Amino acid sequence: MKKVVSTRQLPKSNQPFQLETLEFGRAPTQQEILKVARDAWGLVTTLEDKMNQQLLEQLPNLKAIAQFAVGTNNIDLDFCRAHKIIVTNTPDVLTEATAELTFALMLNCARQIHRAAPDVSKGKWIGWEPMGHLGIALKNKKLGIIGAGRIGQRIAEMARGAFDMQILYHNRKANLHFEKKNQAKLIGFEQLLTESDVVVLMTPLTPETRSLINQKQLLMMKKDAILINTSRGEIINQADLIEVLKADHLFAVGLDVTTPEPLPLNSPLNSVERVLITPHIGSATREARAQMAQLCFDNLKLISENKAPLTSV
Ligand code: GLV
Repeated sequence: MKKVVSTRQLPKSNQPFQLETLEFGRAPTQQEILKVARDAWGLVTTLEDKMNQQLLEQLPNLKAIAQFAVGTNNIDLDFCRAHKIIVTNTPDVLTEATAELTFALMLNCARQIHRAAPDVSKGKWIGWEPMGHLGIALKNKKLGIIGAGRIGQRIAEMARGAFDMQILYHNRKANLHFEKKNQAKLIGFEQLLTESDVVVLMTPLTPETRSLINQKQLLMMKKDAILINTSRGEIINQADLIEVLKADHLFAVGLDVTTPEPLPLNSPLNSVERVLITPHIGSATREARAQMAQLCFDNLKLISENKAPLTSV
């Protein structure tokens, strides 16, 4: 039986391996991974595991990595390609969960629920006010999606279906089917920033997208725009975001991802009331996480049988 090491406890799945699970209740260090995985054939990793050359070189039997996430920016894919280590990820099964969370952040930002609710629980709410707790409407507003992959497209469908939002998108390639289905319009990056009422970042982290949104881009956005990031923290230059927020630019910001994660308690971002930060829970539904785990093991099983995995990177 082939040995597979999972770096975290995962939802129960059907799998045929000699499975060893690291149960620290946190991301293991590279030393902790090595201790158990030195002779492993396969690994199940998460986005917190730094699978760099230094670690991979010390895993001579490794033939497969099943990443329990869609993003794989924590893995040295060039090294894996050169050493014939097959890498898989978990697209599709987390699309709905991540799109729903993106929408939850969008609604929360628009209506500032995270600021209004504590007024009740802390006894600060003295009664209904005509001008109190005013948010902004999403209906008919322009939603700009940067990176219209599977999740970006699903967000657009929700935005059209539920809120009649107009969809602008910026992508490497045009997607005519998507455009037709959602009356979406492909436009340039800067034009998207200047025209959108809500900007959603849905692009993977690559050398090209790192710090894609810095001070210049933030200031191009409308003063009352909403910015949502449910992809990777590093896509936004966070120091610039703090500066721009201090200058009273942007209506609200919803971040499921930050740099670093967890965000230090004393980060100035934590004290800007119109910023809502969640702990990287995009795919965190029971349904998605169960399917992600099963997909990881289904991929490993196929690789162990010399068959093509369902979702290779
Ligand atoms: C989560 O961030 C993922 O990449 O799946």
